[in-house]
Amino acid sequence: MTERTFSIIKPDATKRNLTGKINTVIEDAGLRIVAQKRIRMSDAQAKTFYEVHAERPFYGELVEFMTSGPVVVQVLEGEGAVAKYREVMGATNPAQAADGTIRKLYANNVGENSVHGSDSQDNARLEIAQFFTDDEIVG
Ligand code: CDP
Ligand code: MG
Repeated sequence: MTERTFSIIKPDATKRNLTGKINTVIEDAGLRIVAQKRIRMSDAQAKTFYEVHAERPFYGELVEFMTSGPVVVQVLEGEGAVAKYREVMGATNPAQAADGTIRKLYANNVGENSVHGSDSQDNARLEIAQFFTDDEIVG
């Protein structure tokens, strides 16, 4: 089924000029970038976005990292987009990521791991709504 997922190209990747290379991996996997913008995430936005991790020891560092530089927020569309993008991204820790995945190719470490992707269709809808209005998404 055609569905949408939410993606973030994180500050470690924008800093190293990897937006285009990451978008190539995304498009080569058959996912269509139907919305995209480069923003600076506010402290409040990052805290809300990662609220589910608020009790984890890395939360403070994660919020600091996500606000440390520009990010590119995206909506991706395609067959089974949520699961497909998780596969294309690779494991959270790049040391465990499969060959050819974005994190294997580009991530610095488990924190600075270049990309975010939604983990369910429900979360995809919520995350897309946090950063995009309907008219910004052109499918
Ligand atoms: O991003 P993903 O869904 O693969 O992983 P997560 O478990 O939902 O964690 C969210 C983000 O927190 C990761 O992508 C990392 O940037 C960060 N993280 C970290 O800094 N240290 C960890 N041990 C685990 C996650
Ligand atoms: Mg996650």
